[in-house]
Amino acid sequence: MDSYKLLITGGIPLVGETYVSGGKNTAVAVIPAVLLSDEICVLENLPDIEDVRVLVDILGSLGAKVEYDGKARRMTIDPRPVAGYQVPYQQSQRMRASYYLLGALLGRCGQAEVGYPGGCAIGNRPFDRHIKAFRTLGAEVEEKGAVIYAKGKMVGAGVFFDAITVGGTINAMLAAAKAEGNTTIYNAAKEPHIVDLANFLNSMGASVKGAGTDTIRIRGVKHLHGSVYSVIPDQIETGTLMIAAAATRGDVVIRGCIPTHMEALTAKLLEMGVQVSEMDDAIRVRTVRTHRAVNIKTQEYPGFPTDLQQPMSAMLTRANGDSVVIETIFENRLKHLIEMQRMGARVRILDQTAIIEGVPELYGAPVTATDLRAGAALVVAGLMAKGVTEIYEPAFIARGYEHIEDKLQALGAKIHREDL
Ligand code: EPZ
Repeated sequence: MDSYKLLITGGIPLVGETYVSGGKNTAVAVIPAVLLSDEICVLENLPDIEDVRVLVDILGSLGAKVEYDGKARRMTIDPRPVAGYQVPYQQSQRMRASYYLLGALLGRCGQAEVGYPGGCAIGNRPFDRHIKAFRTLGAEVEEKGAVIYAKGKMVGAGVFFDAITVGGTINAMLAAAKAEGNTTIYNAAKEPHIVDLANFLNSMGASVKGAGTDTIRIRGVKHLHGSVYSVIPDQIETGTLMIAAAATRGDVVIRGCIPTHMEALTAKLLEMGVQVSEMDDAIRVRTVRTHRAVNIKTQEYPGFPTDLQQPMSAMLTRANGDSVVIETIFENRLKHLIEMQRMGARVRILDQTAIIEGVPELYGAPVTATDLRAGAALVVAGLMAKGVTEIYEPAFIARGYEHIEDKLQALGAKIHREDL
């Protein structure tokens, strides 16, 4: 049980300007990639979140010299002293992306022993496709007692993913960057953070082409030099702030984002009757009418992101009419809607489909976060609801959103922590 709960007094439209922090899912891929370098790297615009701090611990225990300044959002990593290749379970289970240490260590020294990853309980989340990719690149891989043992010299090959996997694509890129020979990754994921990782690897002297398409071509290189690199803004935080602005019928400018990463959400908000205007690196979200119900089907990028399904379905609980939400990526990512029934939401769930009947109002109630984006969805619902909402287990939210309470308070929200 977390030591605090979040209290939200809802019904207040969010108004003003806010900013987006660096991307969580790109940071957790770029930080392990530094292990492939033969020199010091400086990473900037990192979000000041728990997952980044876990990676500081992991890299430090592998022997890297890490200076991390959360406030400055900067991390300086000297990978040269790294002699280790083991990440124990009590460290790896603290986050999902710890399994990127497999690809990075295989790429660095041809050996890795990493405990099973943790991460949000939104489904079974196996990593069989990652292991198949490592084997295709020349590693022997076995699993014993919740540890993955991988060993072998990386040799370029054709890696075909039976189904799209963001993490698998990232791990294959990490393992292939310094492999002997050329690698082609087929049926690759196309998320913005895949492109950001490719750009970072190339800034160190790698040769990665085609990131952002379904075929990524990598020419293995012997050495990667140091780099100073700033990660892209968080696509999912941008979307969550856009949804919170629209759901509270507010008027918010979100600065420091990349509007082209938001197309699927922007299109849905426009369909609902929300006004969305795009500038170079900012988006303004304004509500000028009540919201029409819409249907959502999550898909791999550039489709509607599964990570925004939960906050979006919170907003749909108060749309005019019935909305159908189909979650195609994870098998257990609708639990937040059960919690919202306590707030007056009218929802029927059948397998991975939710039928949401819009109601005129939500009402504050005690609810419990079950994962990171479910927590974000409950915050959106609390901001919408009349009265006070108490969110238990809110620490999930801090894993993926930098200082979210401060950002929302600056937009007029009544949200604060209360010790239990
Ligand atoms: C990444 O998870 C993100 N996490 C998730 O964000 C995001 O929801 C997901 O990509 C999809 O965009 C990080 O980047 C740290 P997948 P990942 O491999 O890599 C199945 C958040 O809230 N699968 O694309 O785990 C898997 O179970 C988090 O920030 C296999 O079966 O996603 C899922 O059903 C939540 N075998 C589907 O594929 C495998 O080997 C897509 O998973 C790999 C995946």
